[in-house]
Amino acid sequence: MEPHNSSFLWVLLLIFMLNLKTPSVQGLGVNWGTRATHPLSPDIVVKLMKDNGINKVKLFEAEAWVLDALKNSGIQVMLGIPNDFLAPLASGVAIAENWVTKNVSAYVSRGVDIRYVAVGNEPFLKTYKNMFTNATLPALQNIQAALIKAGLGRQVKVTVPLNADVYESGSGVPSEGDFRPDIHGLMISIVKFLNDNGAPLTINIYPFLSLYADPHFPVDFAFFAGTNAPVVDGSVSYTNVFDANYDTLVSALEKNGFSSMPIIVGEIGWPTDGDVNANVQYARKFNQGLLSRIIQGQGTPKRKTPPDIYLFGLIDEDAKSIDPGNFERHWGIFNYDGSVKYKLDFGSNKTLVPAKGVRYLPAQWCVMAPDASETDPKLADSISYACTYADCTSLGYGSSCGGLDARSNASYAFNKYFQTFNQQQGSCNFNNLSVITKIPPTTGRASCKYDIMIDLGKHVKARSPRTSAAAIRWRSLDYSCSLVVVFLLSLIVGWVA
Ligand SMILES: *[C@@H]1O[C@H](CO)[C@@H](O)[C@H](O)[C@H]1NC(C)=O
Ligand SMILES: *[C@@H]1O[C@H](CO)[C@@H](O)[C@H](O)[C@H]1NC(C)=O
Ligand SMILES: *[C@@H]1O[C@H](CO)[C@@H](O)[C@H](O)[C@H]1NC(C)=O
Ligand SMILES: *[C@@H]1O[C@H](CO)[C@@H](O)[C@H](O)[C@H]1NC(C)=O
Ligand SMILES: *[C@@H]1O[C@H](CO)[C@@H](O)[C@H](O)[C@H]1NC(C)=O
Repeated sequence: MEPHNSSFLWVLLLIFMLNLKTPSVQGLGVNWGTRATHPLSPDIVVKLMKDNGINKVKLFEAEAWVLDALKNSGIQVMLGIPNDFLAPLASGVAIAENWVTKNVSAYVSRGVDIRYVAVGNEPFLKTYKNMFTNATLPALQNIQAALIKAGLGRQVKVTVPLNADVYESGSGVPSEGDFRPDIHGLMISIVKFLNDNGAPLTINIYPFLSLYADPHFPVDFAFFAGTNAPVVDGSVSYTNVFDANYDTLVSALEKNGFSSMPIIVGEIGWPTDGDVNANVQYARKFNQGLLSRIIQGQGTPKRKTPPDIYLFGLIDEDAKSIDPGNFERHWGIFNYDGSVKYKLDFGSNKTLVPAKGVRYLPAQWCVMAPDASETDPKLADSISYACTYADCTSLGYGSSCGGLDARSNASYAFNKYFQTFNQQQGSCNFNNLSVITKIPPTTGRASCKYDIMIDLGKHVKARSPRTSAAAIRWRSLDYSCSLVVVFLLSLIVGWVA
């Protein structure tokens, strides 16, 4: 072989080396929601996923700034369509074709690996009072037709992420599961349509919400560590609600003639704040239990292979609606800034690594002025004003900053507002009750911190102040893997040359 050919191989080798990825956890995805006042730069988020070996992501809608960052990332995408768009999509195939052209084809051709289109988001949730019931199947059919027309019928599959309340079991045992009576016929039509098109059924399962909705729900049953009071279903003992819930769906599918229908878990997770049961200990217990099962390839009593699972969620979202509860803004396995909330073992001693290159606003905080009085009549209004525009969900009962003393409570609210409004001039001006400080204030409680917001101005690559020892350890491990591959490849190159 000519010398220049051999150097060409070395260049290939080098490219291959640089592209070596962190080994991913098979079947694990994440939901990336963007309802934040200060979303992390999408490039940082994509890097965060790659650094953590996460190669599947679910998006709630087609946002250009997010999809652009996923180009040639090697990350597989499930792309969502919001419920509000179901009626227009149902009204005519032309609208669906336009959606597919602009939001799927355009990105696929630019290297975004879109695998699924998720039509609607829990459209049959009882709280929606049938608002989306009629539009869902026609919208699904029109999107499918549009995908086929675009030549993407094989590559991109449709699905509908559904809430677990679309099925139930009268007696409570999974083997008696069936679809909810009011939408039974519709569910059969949807499942049949998905099945005919080689598409999966997607279901969101939330043991946390079972606990939230029912104070008598047995706490042990929400996790994966076993329980003294399992649900006995014939010869099977169910020791956790995830297995029981998932198998109720499997039974519903079997009962209606779809026993081999593939299932994806579209959302599952545990929040860390905003409720008495939403804390780091429980979130870690639940998500680690779930992860360990995925890593070990453990399924449920009825289905031995685990489904693909998308954790909810990747990062906290401080602008998410709190209609369901204050916990809504705290589902992330990462904090708002991509820092690690708690340790999660991804197998082989690999733990979470934080986001890199995040740029923060200056180190200054807005706190209650030392000379302001706790009994000032304007204090309550000032706090209330701050909390109308900034996220104070951590201040509630049972939350990480719940029950602070009056002074810390006010400071927390003032600082949230100040940071949310980018420390702008005039944003620390609460009836003369507040003051800016450069001395890091503390609440006196480890779990409750005064944050500094992300600088949205410029996301220049800066050294992350939070790179953990674990991250460095993992990187060096990665590096030694690269060396082995380089050695093997050099043997091959040598042999070819
Ligand atoms: C693409 O998706 C976005 C986000 O849901 C939506 O606003 C937009 O209208 C869609 N484009 C088309 C052409 O339907
Ligand atoms: C759905 O369609 C049915 C039958 O056509 C109709 O009776 C019902 O009012 C519709 N529901 C909504 C919410 O539009
Ligand atoms: C994980 O780390 C512990 C100690 O930190 C060690 O004893 C164990 O062998 C490691 N396991 C793997 C799979 O590397
Ligand atoms: C803290 O602020 C909240 C407003 O978010 C208010 O309802 C509560 O009474 C305050 N607590 C104290 C101790 O001042
Ligand atoms: C704040 O204090 C200044 C000077 O003491 C005073 O002029 C101003 O009226 C005060 N503003 C409010 C909103 O209380």
